[in-house]
This record gives sequence, structure tokens and C-alpha cells, in this order.
Amino acid sequence: MSDAKLDLNGEQYELPITVGSEGEVGIDISALRNQSGAITYDPGYGNTGSCASSITFIDGEKGILRYRGYPIEVLAESCRFTEVIYLLINGELPTETQYRGFRESLTRHSLIHEDMKKFFEGYAITAHPMAILSSMISVLSSYYPEGQDEAARELNIIRLLAKAKTIAAFSYKKSIGQPFVYPNNSLSYCENFLHMMFAVPAEAYEVPEVLDDALNLLLVLHADHEQNCSTSTVRMVGSSDANIFASISAGINALWGPLHGGANQKVIEMLERIRQDGSDYKKYVDMAKDKDSDFRLMGFGHRVYKNFDPRARLLKKSADKVLAQLGVTDPLLEIAKNLEEVALEDDYFVERKLYPNVDFYSGIIYRAMGIPTNMFTVMFALGRLPGWVAHWMEMRDDPKGKIHRPRQIYTGETERAFVPIESR
Ligand code: ACO
Repeated sequence: MSDAKLDLNGEQYELPITVGSEGEVGIDISALRNQSGAITYDPGYGNTGSCASSITFIDGEKGILRYRGYPIEVLAESCRFTEVIYLLINGELPTETQYRGFRESLTRHSLIHEDMKKFFEGYAITAHPMAILSSMISVLSSYYPEGQDEAARELNIIRLLAKAKTIAAFSYKKSIGQPFVYPNNSLSYCENFLHMMFAVPAEAYEVPEVLDDALNLLLVLHADHEQNCSTSTVRMVGSSDANIFASISAGINALWGPLHGGANQKVIEMLERIRQDGSDYKKYVDMAKDKDSDFRLMGFGHRVYKNFDPRARLLKKSADKVLAQLGVTDPLLEIAKNLEEVALEDDYFVERKLYPNVDFYSGIIYRAMGIPTNMFTVMFALGRLPGWVAHWMEMRDDPKGKIHRPRQIYTGETERAFVPIESR
């Protein structure tokens, strides 16, 4: 493809084109400022490619999501989450031997250092589990400093992936005042997490298969989503050579916001509000359309998906199945379906291409599983962890990598004279 041409103030500039493996076209403006003094202006980076990446492909118009070339529907149907972790961080699906070794190391590193338990004593009982997760992941760096070689880096990545679920489950136990339940090495990744969440020392607990499968699906569907807000944050922080724990902790905080991963908690709060208000969902659709109201339909809309979110489709199907298998009837599921039906036919949502996103149905499944609402975004973080790690590694290994440092268009005062305080 020939270079793009820019005409700026009567000067011509040739801008090289970079084409991705799916034919995506990027105009390389990296030399533009040096050549012309101008920068590109793209608030919110909606049209900016911040890197080249071979991890995840999304076509928002067609509703396509692939990790390392494999369609999300196939992975969701056929893979355990740990296989997807391996795929994302190594680029290939594991052989049986590789998989056995990988699972074994993830299991072996699940325990957190006994001293780390003391940190939990300091958190308020009301602490949001996302606050605990992000700070405890950062604390891991004080126990496991960054090593100098590849093996040390790999070991810290395994530690991070293995211990995050233990920290997440401990934060839940702390919030309900129950003793921590230690990981059990005979259990799989998902089973182990559920065991640490729901077992109590006085009682036998066997992880129900339906919960194991539901959690597996949720984690697989959340595992990566290219350059979203939290992943870009991980890359941004990591680009300063910050260690993996610090970078991931930053990503967790970026995920927390209600416009990103925090939306799954907000969806349930919204559905609950509608239920308490007599289930009049049409009133809330009208409120979401009203420009004088700041109310938005949480779980609707996406920066990239403009047709449908393939993850939401899979989760909608799964919500029905999981609730039926668990024998749970949840009035919020009915409200969610009604809301979706009305919104999808409404011109406001159709014109703006607003569809249910991954967060719309995930909360209903988490609820049916017995996971409390304030843990939903933590669940998202556990799912997204391998994606963050894969991006952090890719960024670090990029020979062209440099510190991320966007420019700005300054709109403040131009130089002015200082006035001493007594004269102001
Ligand atoms: N309800 C009502 N109106 C909406 C919604 C919504 N959920 N989402 C977008 N709109 C409207 C906006 O008001 C805007 O209307 P306008 O053109 O008349 O001004 C138009 O649709 C475009 O919206 P933007 O906010 O510009 O779209 P953007 O791509 O910046 O935002 C976002 C995407 C943040 C996801 C947005 O749709 C939203 O706030 N959704 C609700 C929160 C949510 O579910 N977040 C989870 C996203 S998925 C994830 O992170 C895992």
C-alpha cells in the first residue's frame, strides 16, 4: 500500500502505512512532529493504535474476538482457563506435557507468604475487594523482587497468576469475617478458587461441577481484549520499566471504574434498583435516553463492538443454563432480558449501536453462583490477568519499545506576568 499524503499548511508529508495480518491499516505518524511540528489529536485514543500486537484480534463491526487466532466461541467451548492462560502468554496452545507442567507450577505457587496475611488485618471490614486486590498484588513485589534473567521473570509471572486467586478469595473471607481457607493442591485452578471462597473449616465442601464450569467460561471470556483501558494502563506503567506486580496493580485500578470492569457491579445495582421500583424497565430506558439525566444503561455500549459483543451472546445462553442447573430463579434475569429486548428495538440504541456488553449478563451468573456483588470486578480482574501479563511481556520484549508518553494540545494561558500576592 502506498504512503498516505498529508497536506498541512501548504507542505506535503508522506506518511508510511503499516498493515496488520487482518488487513487493518495504520498511518504511521511517529515522525510527523519532527517533520512538521504537528501532532495528531485523538482524545480518548479512540482512533489511535498505540502498539502492534499479536495477541488478540477484534472486529467490532462483525463481532469477532480471537485470542492468538482462535475464535472465542471455540475456546469457550473446548478449553479450560489454564489452557487459555498458557495460550495467551506463550502464543501457542500447550501440548499435554507442557500443560501438565504449567498447571503443576500454577498449583504449587498458590500459597501466599504467611506474613502477607498480616496485611489483611489492617484493611477495614468494609474495604472494597478491588482495593485489597490491587494493593496486595503491589505488595507481592516486596516479597518477590524482579530478577535479572528470563527464568526469574517467568517465575514471578507464575507466582502472580497463581497467587492472585488466593488473594481474591482471602479478601472475600476477610469481608465476611471467616477464617481464610488455604489452597488445596489436588484441585484445579477454578475449583481451587471456589474452594477458597466457599469452603468453611468446619464443613466438608465439594466444588459443584456447574460452578466450576460457569467460572471457567467467565474467566475464558474475560481473558483478553486487546488495548482496553486497563491493558493500556498495564502497558503504560510497564513501559517505564516498572515491575510486573506494579504494572498489574495499576491495571486492576483502571479496571475498577464503572465505565470499564466496574460495570458488572453497576449492572446488578441498576437491575436491583429497577426491581425495587416495580420492575418498570421502560422508565429506565427513557431515562437512559434523556440527555438531561446522567443515567446510562449499565452493561450497554462498547467502544469497539458496534454490532454485538460475542462474549455477551455466550453469557446470555450460559445465564439461563446455570440458573436452571442451580435451581435459582432470579427476577433480575427477567428484568435484564426485558430491558435488552426494549433497548434493542429502540431507535436511540439502534442508531448509536448500543448493545449489551460482557458485563450485562456476567453479574447474573456470578450472583447465582453465590459470589457477592462487590466481588464481581475482582472476578473480571482474575479473568483479565493473563491478558495483562501477555501484553506486559509483549511490550517488554518489543525491540522498538519505548516509554509511553503521549503529547497534548495545550489550551491554558499563554505566558503572563507574575503579580505579587499583595497586589492581587
Ligand atoms: N446508555 C445510554 N446511552 C449511552 C450508553 C448507555 N449505556 N452508552 C453510550 N451511550 C450514548 C452516549 O450518551 C452517546 O450519545 P450521544 O452521541 O447522543 O452523545 C453515544 O451513546 C456514544 O457514547 P460514548 O460514551 O461516546 O461512547 P464511548 O465509546 O466513549 O463509550 C462506554 C463506551 C464507556 C462503554 C459507554 O457505552 C458506557 O458508558 N456504557 C455503560 C458502561 C458499561 O457498560 N461499561 C462496560 C464496557 S465493557 C468493558 O469495559 C468490559
